[in-house]
Amino acid sequence: MDIIYLLFTYLIASIPFGYVIGKISGKDITKVGSGNIGATNVARTVGKKAGIIVLILDMMKGFIPVYLAKIYLFPHYGDKYIAVVALTAVLGHCFSVFMKFKGGKGVATGIGVLLALSPKVALIIMILWTGIFLATGFVSLASIISAFISWIAMNYIDGNYYYTLSTLLASAVIIIKHSSNIDRLIKGTENRFIYK
Ligand code: G3P
Repeated sequence: MDIIYLLFTYLIASIPFGYVIGKISGKDITKVGSGNIGATNVARTVGKKAGIIVLILDMMKGFIPVYLAKIYLFPHYGDKYIAVVALTAVLGHCFSVFMKFKGGKGVATGIGVLLALSPKVALIIMILWTGIFLATGFVSLASIISAFISWIAMNYIDGNYYYTLSTLLASAVIIIKHSSNIDRLIKGTENRFIYK
């Protein structure tokens, strides 16, 4: 196992792009909207363009470390190591060292990771996410259901044991990170996705 690369992955995934872009726009993203540093809250409180930029950057910080490890750097380490890199990327975003280990909810970074692990599974999850979002208007609900389905999809469509385990653990973290959203969804007070 290359511990240095895991550390690198954690640090890259820890970069709070939403917070940085919020600050550049003159807002502390942790104090407006849902308070989350993710693309949804940036789009909601800063603007659509800023949200898209954060979405792409957050996806990339999941995709790039896993893709590089899988294809170029450590294919000889096997799937177990790639699965650990994948989980590390999601943990980096969710428990960022730069945000006093608070971080975001892991959805965009998780999709980036899925794209690197299994593009087919990522595509299915993105279609599912979009369908739920369009049907309900709730980003959080789309994210929670998609996270829950992602490890099942990984198991049945990709079939890789280590990728499934890593996706299952990442899904659990993502769902736990949405506990305030779950609370608001139950109470009927969840934020809708509104562009500025
Ligand atoms: O990716 C986070 C999303 O699922 C929920 O974001 O800002 O509505 O809590 P937010």
